[in-house]
Amino acid sequence: MPNSPRSIAVRAPAKINLLLRVGPPRPDGYHDLRTVFHAIDLCDVVTAGPSDSLSLSVAGAEGSGLPADERNLAWRAAAELAEHAGVEARARLAITKSIPVAAGLAGGSADAAATLIACDRLWDLDSTGAELDAIAARLGSDVTFALHGRSALGVGRGERLDPITADGRLHWAVAAADAGLATPAVYRELDRLRAEGAVPAPDLDAAVAESDAVCRALAAGRPAALAALLANDLQPAALSLAPQLGATLAAGDRLGALAGIVSGSGPTCVFLAADRQDAERLAAELAASGTCRFARPVVGGVAGAAAQASARAAVS
Ligand code: C5P
Repeated sequence: MPNSPRSIAVRAPAKINLLLRVGPPRPDGYHDLRTVFHAIDLCDVVTAGPSDSLSLSVAGAEGSGLPADERNLAWRAAAELAEHAGVEARARLAITKSIPVAAGLAGGSADAAATLIACDRLWDLDSTGAELDAIAARLGSDVTFALHGRSALGVGRGERLDPITADGRLHWAVAAADAGLATPAVYRELDRLRAEGAVPAPDLDAAVAESDAVCRALAAGRPAALAALLANDLQPAALSLAPQLGATLAAGDRLGALAGIVSGSGPTCVFLAADRQDAERLAAELAASGTCRFARPVVGGVAGAAAQASARAAVS
């Protein structure tokens, strides 16, 4: 269809944190982090098509109940990019959601990152990587990583990244929970548990050696070595707010996962597998265990939204 207007489709990968060390609360309410992000091929798809105004629709297996207006981070991403570039925010945005919401998988951040890329192409802006990174960092702590994907060390509130060279792919089973957890509530619960001495005080200096070890295991492509290094300061807080996750983690352990951990602020749990076949088996058995809403095998270390510069498609 030579005269059809084009639309741009960009895949938005979810993230998990292989290491997540959390400092004390900062004056601005955020927490300094030392984290190792890892992008997984559980993806939303964001499409941007031509329009006279900005509009948004949300569909897909995990799309129900999400706002389709300026409360949605994808909408704000399009608006911020347009303002930065000095153009009108004219796009018909459509998100097909497969990433569970309020799940510790940064699905909203992924949609925002994919929206930046899709609108940049739709409006022929040719923004630089540095420009997109700066807008992403303003939108949220995880949006910059969603642009880049693969694996990366994150510091600051998570928006300052250092890529990790790791060619190999890792295999995981992702177990989705019945109900979501609000990220701010999980951070607050960690602060509360620390204040009462129930969990150790923060020590971001000690986390430098830990993240170095995670980077080495990733670069060597050794899942068994990585298994012993997975750690998440937010896990006790997520378990305190959603104690049923203990059964999910125990099921993964019983089923022979190399390691299991709460992803980010939870409540999703992720389990490291030896290879693709093992991840498929683990996911099937976790799904049958009755301890999660669904479980899926995924590949980790996949590219982020920015790598899809050539993702163009004609609207039919
Ligand atoms: O940056 P983002 O909007 O994704 O963060 C959501 C919430 O998570 C923040 O409002 C804050 O409560 C918490 N957070 C934090 N420290 C971080 C990242 C997020 O306290 N480094």
